[in-house]
Order: sequence, then C-alpha cells, then structure tokens
Amino acid sequence: MSELNPNNEWTFVVDRLEKTVSLAMEIAEVIRTPGVVAFFGGLGSGKTTFIQALGAGLGHRCAITSPSYTIINRYDGGSLPLVHVDCYRIEEEKELYEIGLDEIFAGDSLVCVEWSDRALGLLPQSRLEIHLSYEGHRQRGVKILLLGDIWPELRSKIPLWLERNL
Ligand SMILES: Nc1ncnc2c1ncn2[C@@H]1O[C@H](COP(=O)(O)OP(=O)(O)OP(=O)(O)O)[C@@H](O)[C@H]1O
Ligand SMILES: [Mg+2]
Repeated sequence: MSELNPNNEWTFVVDRLEKTVSLAMEIAEVIRTPGVVAFFGGLGSGKTTFIQALGAGLGHRCAITSPSYTIINRYDGGSLPLVHVDCYRIEEEKELYEIGLDEIFAGDSLVCVEWSDRALGLLPQSRLEIHLSYEGHRQRGVKILLLGDIWPELRSKIPLWLERNL
C-alpha cells in the first residue's frame, strides 16, 4: 500500500487478488444507500473482479458475470440491489440514454460501471471513481476518488485501510 492524498483521492498498490477483494468488501460495508461507482482501467485490470467482491459484500450470493453483450445486469436482493453496467461495446453515449442508464443512475441501486470513460456525460456528479491499473501478474494500482457528497464515511475509513495495509 502506498501514498496518501489528504483530499478526496487515495492510491493503493495491491499485491494480490485477496487484497483487492478485501478492499472491495470494506467499501461495500460503508455503502448503505444507492449510488454510482465508476470504474476505469484497461482489459484485465480487475474491474469485474472488484464488482464481484462489492456484490458479495452487499450479500449477493449469485454469480456476478460481466454484461458484455447485455450491457446491463441487475441483481435484486442483498442489502441493496446491484446493477452492473459494461460500456465496453458502447460507441456513442446516446446508446446509453436509449437503454435508460440515466434513469438507472437515479434509481434504487448500487450501479457499478465498467469502461466509465464511455459514459462520462451521464455519470452523476456525486460518485465514487475507482481507477485500476495492471502493474504485474498479481499487482494492481487502485486509485479511489470520492466526488461530491456520496458515502462521506469513506473519507475517514479509506485512510485507515491504507494505514493498516488492508
Ligand atoms: N490483485 C488483483 N486484483 C484484481 N484482479 C487480479 C489481481 N491479481 C490477479 N487478478 C486477476 O486479474 C483478472 C482481472 O480480470 P477482470 O475480468 O476482473 O478484469 P476487467 O478489468 O473486468 O477486464 P475487462 O476489461 O476484460 O472487463 C482476474 O482473472 C483476476 O483473478
Ligand atoms: Mg470486466
């Protein structure tokens, strides 16, 4: 683990899968209200893995699989419904309006978006951003940005996770 930025941005270096999963589970503990988590990062950087662990942390017991073709998967149950969006195949943002993503963002769920760079115009101002980077077979960079007033408890919790190396 490394680097602490005192504002709203924190960077972890995660050296194995289990730590990515722990970090996601810690975040899930804090998430008690609907909102959007926007994921950024290339192929294999760990976006789906992170979302699966968030889902598990919210108590979703079914398999969470990437909605590469359906674009959107919704999972009811758990402490909050989970909507998993994959924008990889999106060429223009208007396609996302057509499938009602703006309404889904304003809905009752935790909405996790892979390839968020393809949905920038629709993302709500208040959101959690997670930027993942591949740094080696098991190592990933995880930059977390907390934008607006969503899940304010994260602001005090994330530095503690950094300190204790998860
Ligand atoms: N520290 C780590 N954190 C996350 N994933 C890891 C880590 N170490 C190894 N992995 C592996 O890296 C792979 C990440 O794949 P995943 O499908 O989550 O990436 P993705 O960003 O969703 O890719 P895509 O862009 O294709 O959707 C998984 O096989 C996972 O087990
Ligand atoms: Mg994926």
